Amino acid sequence: MKEKAVASAPGKVILFGEHFVVSGYPAIVTAIKMRAKATLTPRHDKFMIKSGQTSAVWNSNGEQIYPSTATPFQPLFNMASRIMEDFGISSFFNAEIHSESPGAAGLGSSAAVSVALAKALASLYNIDMSIESVIHYSMLAEKEFHGRPSGIDSHITAIGGTLLYNGPGKYQNLKLDKHPEILIVYTGIKRKTSKMVSYVQNLSAERPDEFTQLTEIYSELYKKAVEALKSNDLILLGRLMTVNHLLLKCLGLSNTVVENVVETLLEKGAYGAKITGAGGGGCVIAVGDDELAKHLSGHFPSCWKSETGCKGVSEEA
Ligand code: MEV
Repeated sequence: MKEKAVASAPGKVILFGEHFVVSGYPAIVTAIKMRAKATLTPRHDKFMIKSGQTSAVWNSNGEQIYPSTATPFQPLFNMASRIMEDFGISSFFNAEIHSESPGAAGLGSSAAVSVALAKALASLYNIDMSIESVIHYSMLAEKEFHGRPSGIDSHITAIGGTLLYNGPGKYQNLKLDKHPEILIVYTGIKRKTSKMVSYVQNLSAERPDEFTQLTEIYSELYKKAVEALKSNDLILLGRLMTVNHLLLKCLGLSNTVVENVVETLLEKGAYGAKITGAGGGGCVIAVGDDELAKHLSGHFPSCWKSETGCKGVSEEA
């Protein structure tokens, strides 16, 4: 066993197809530069997971002994226990988690954390864990976090790059000469992915004709989006992103705060803008020319420029 293991994994943005992907349609997702990091050290008697000022401790029977209330770390602890059980490891650890992107904001922070933790555990205990297994374990945690995830977040953060994603294990790496830079604006509104997903799934069951019409438009949009990415046509890419946003708006996933962000981005010269992730708040993404970020200065308290197609999970020194 090592004295320390560190792994990091990227956040993500969905360029096209959130929610549609839960209903079996392909989506385009890309890894961004903001990463989550897990640092593991062995200890003798207990397990601890800590992030910032918040921590939780479990005894050797896997019972949480601190704090007395539930914490968001439980799915991570359950995932770690499962990994240790599957690989026959009986040991204890301290895990320190740090995520550069805000949680519950559509940037895949929870999947990045679970993937980084699975990779760090594999490294600490010298487990030869395939990337498919890392994804598998991360999805166990994601199911606890989000109820019914499509698996897109766990796949992109583990694999990196840009993926055409069509369900667990069904993806294609989209090789691009140039990955577009994007702007990410955080609306400041946290929301629960599981709630937004059930809302859309209920809507599609209650109004199947309407939903089918939207999926037909989406399917055409998706094909054009792949072409726009391959030809690095940012203007077309932007227009298609705005159309995708309108589809999400038709599904009831926008609100006045999100609409104000999208409108401001378009007014300031973005080629296009859309919700990314579950909607209802979270983040909005946009593409534009090199000047766009300058035109936006002072408009949004949390706005980041990011490369896309960044590397997936990796061990750190
Ligand atoms: C979450 O990043 C995107 C959703 O499509 C849910 C999922 O695919 O699991 C809203």
